[in-house]
Amino acid sequence: MGMIRTLRAVVRLRRPEGDRTARRLRGAANVDDLRNIARRRLPAGVFDYIDGGAEDELTLDRNVRAFRETTFRPRVLRGLDELDTSTTLLGRPLAFPLVLAPTGFTRIADPAGELAVVRAAGRAGIPFTLSTMGTRSIDECAAVAGPGARLWFQVYAWRDRDLIRAMLDRAAAAGFEAICLTVDTAMLGRRERDVRRGMTLPPEIGPGTFFDGMRRPGWTWRFLRSDPIRFANVEREAAGPADGDEGAPGTGERAVDLAAYMNAQFDHGLSWDDVAWLRTVWDGPILVKGIQSVADAVLAVEHGVEGIILSNHGGRQLDTAPAPFDLVPAVAEAVAGSGANGGVDRIEVICDGGIRRGSDIVKAVAAGADATMGGRLFLYALAAAGERGVDHVLELLRSGTERTMALVGAATVDELGSDLLESR
Ligand code: LAC
Repeated sequence: MGMIRTLRAVVRLRRPEGDRTARRLRGAANVDDLRNIARRRLPAGVFDYIDGGAEDELTLDRNVRAFRETTFRPRVLRGLDELDTSTTLLGRPLAFPLVLAPTGFTRIADPAGELAVVRAAGRAGIPFTLSTMGTRSIDECAAVAGPGARLWFQVYAWRDRDLIRAMLDRAAAAGFEAICLTVDTAMLGRRERDVRRGMTLPPEIGPGTFFDGMRRPGWTWRFLRSDPIRFANVEREAAGPADGDEGAPGTGERAVDLAAYMNAQFDHGLSWDDVAWLRTVWDGPILVKGIQSVADAVLAVEHGVEGIILSNHGGRQLDTAPAPFDLVPAVAEAVAGSGANGGVDRIEVICDGGIRRGSDIVKAVAAGADATMGGRLFLYALAAAGERGVDHVLELLRSGTERTMALVGAATVDELGSDLLESR
């Protein structure tokens, strides 16, 4: 009798409770698990657009491997009392050293798109960066951001400077804190998975296309029921293009591929002078995203920006570009003592790309970065389980940061230094 009761208790404990999303998330122990779920739920072309990189994907791979090949030099018996993962970035608090990267087309992962990510980032106490190629508008994002939420805006160098100015005015009015100028897209990198899939904008649903909806009916149902996917921040200005050719997707022109669209719209003549121009149209902090060398990090300091984002665009632009994590020590040393701005002792250095675990965040900071940035990590989560998926992955990364700090013997972010890393 007692035995039966005990067994029943065990059975009851094991009965799956909660809804399907909760069950799916319980089985997702890390970012790779979320990626696998995303792969099962998304049409192959959509998954490949998110997951893929340029050409042979060597940089895509290296971004992740650079972290894995670095080992810790852990310290023990350090009397850790309270563990504190919080830090500051641009003079404002950050719950742990991660910023969510700008990603184009976010709504193809889930119809809520950026709104889900804005809310989750706010709950997690970290900034979210809205992309110029985002699929929710500046105002929509600001409307769902809670008090204290930090919103950044990413800027592409459109030829049409009035369009940039109008976007920045809207971002300022909506309370966005900082802008990131992306500088690694003089042309769009060749993502060969997208070439093979025939990716077009606006997306066309049909068998054998990028959006092969027949094989993923759940995704297709959600996609068809929601508003059309548009570049919500550029559509008004780009509607009715003068040449009738490469208008913004979703404004009724014929489908174009992303490379043709971006190569036609973007200013390949972008230079440091344009950073000075940005200063005249934006009052807040400016970060340059896509720095890939010590020489350019030094130039960024000379041009007075508040921060640099070491980034190769998630391995989506120049293949065999260096992994950002590999650049961190030399860049951190080169920009030391650079802080003319806002009383910080140097400009902010953010390491973007390859972050899959809290331990990667700890390594980047120990190597000399002020924070890290990641995009795919939340896109996989969004595709796997919507907004709750994003909450889940941010908690995995936060708790992973905390646990790793404890295991290497650092109670605070300030205690993370290169002494905790083996040189590679
Ligand atoms: C990309 C662009 C949109 O990487 O940033 O696909």
